[in-house]
Amino acid sequence: MSDPVIRIENLSFQWSAGLAPCLDIPHFEVQAGERIFLYGPSGSGKSTLLGLFGGVLLPQRGSLRLLGVELPQCSASERDRFRAGHVGFLFQQFNLIPYLSVLDNVLLPCRFSSRRRQRAIDSGRSLHDEALRLLDHLDIDTSLHHREATQLSVGQQQRVAAARALIGRPEIVIADEPTSALDADRQIAFLDLMMHESDAAGSTLVFVSHDRRLATAFDREIALPAINHAAVLEAAA
Ligand SMILES: Nc1ncnc2c1ncn2[C@@H]1O[C@H](COP(=O)(O)OP(=O)(O)O)[C@@H](O)[C@H]1O
Ligand SMILES: [Mg+2]
Repeated sequence: MSDPVIRIENLSFQWSAGLAPCLDIPHFEVQAGERIFLYGPSGSGKSTLLGLFGGVLLPQRGSLRLLGVELPQCSASERDRFRAGHVGFLFQQFNLIPYLSVLDNVLLPCRFSSRRRQRAIDSGRSLHDEALRLLDHLDIDTSLHHREATQLSVGQQQRVAAARALIGRPEIVIADEPTSALDADRQIAFLDLMMHESDAAGSTLVFVSHDRRLATAFDREIALPAINHAAVLEAAA
């Protein structure tokens, strides 16, 4: 079997020195191509864990390996490069750049990473055409492509953010409660699209939600409190 895409050993993270650890995870692995549904109550550390996966946060202790790279041993610029090249992030609040057009928002990861740019055009399309394909697949009409991102509805912005996370086929796609602003029907449709695109790209998907009803479409569901001993201790206190 190939090496796990994400591997955690004896990881501990605390937000500041005086506080109890927010995360204390003895062991956690995600295999290549797996689609993981990670859930847990608000405040249980889901977004914190995703920040570690993105190399934005660093654990105080333990091992955090993504695609065989030990992130805590990398410099800040190496972690930035790693994230830009290998990880597609879809945030709860989308984090689209307000003054950029829809199209430029989608193309942004390919400006930061030559690797993502190369993988986007490996499909035989131009970069521009690959962005159009993703937007079309996510049902964003061409009439919207040159509007500023914030002129779109919440549901449209969310799909633009999904296209941005998926462009250039990053090995790891991370989604932090991206469906929380949508009604039930749109949640299902959006999930289908995410699944289809990450499957086609062979990406590993880590999808976070507090809404367990969405879990059925995934390969594996994980309750964060079940792997995070810090949360268990807090709950028992
Ligand atoms: N920037 C921060 N500084 C200090 N504490 C934080 C910060 N962000 C989150 N926390 C704390 O870490 C814990 C987990 O938060 P979070 O990872 O956002 O949970 P979730 O995403 O599951 O709702 C909470 O107790 C929260 O208050
Ligand atoms: Mg969160």
